[in-house]
Amino acid sequence: MAYSRLETLISGQQLQVRVKELGRMITADYPADPGREDLRLIAVLSGAFVFLADLIREIERDVSVDFLGTNSYGPSTTTSGEVKIGKDLDHEIAGLDVLLVEDIVDTGLTVNYLCQVLQQRQPRSLRVVTLLDKPSRRIKPVELAYVGFEIPDRFVVGYGLDHAQRYRNLPGICVLGKDGLA
Ligand code: IMP
Ligand code: MG
Repeated sequence: MAYSRLETLISGQQLQVRVKELGRMITADYPADPGREDLRLIAVLSGAFVFLADLIREIERDVSVDFLGTNSYGPSTTTSGEVKIGKDLDHEIAGLDVLLVEDIVDTGLTVNYLCQVLQQRQPRSLRVVTLLDKPSRRIKPVELAYVGFEIPDRFVVGYGLDHAQRYRNLPGICVLGKDGLA
């Protein structure tokens, strides 16, 4: 069966521990302020939806959420270098503290582009939180305020991350074996 080709890199339990820590750091960095708007978390679809769902429950202050969809074109497990916004935000971010929530930063092209787009909308502040970081693959520089785990240059799935839309429901992060690739 398909799952036998998967090797666990980060267990569901390790993820939960780290997400709790990230939530604690974010809570400390954005203290609740009755005079200010909610902290806006913007998740990049689709991969970041599981991370977002867990992360917001570890942040002890008011938050609001919104979603951005990107399309990137290219071979199945690499990015083409071209990023486009498929689904835009539903709400404005001018004057707000914004946290962009990513599942994984690989070449950095997506986050670099999205930060440029979001910055033009004049948020009060803009930072990035990513569950996973593959620094060895970076093409574009990105500033990551919070990183869950640095991982080696392997294609991973699970906990929201997919390959051809599959494996998002795995509780941990797994490496997909070569025969799992399309
Ligand atoms: P980047 O633009 O190269 O940084 O890649 C951004 C997007 O590529 C991520 O948000 C993922 O959707 C996808 N991606 C990169 N590496 C992986 C991986 O190992 N597994 C699943 N998706 C990945
Ligand atoms: Mg993504």
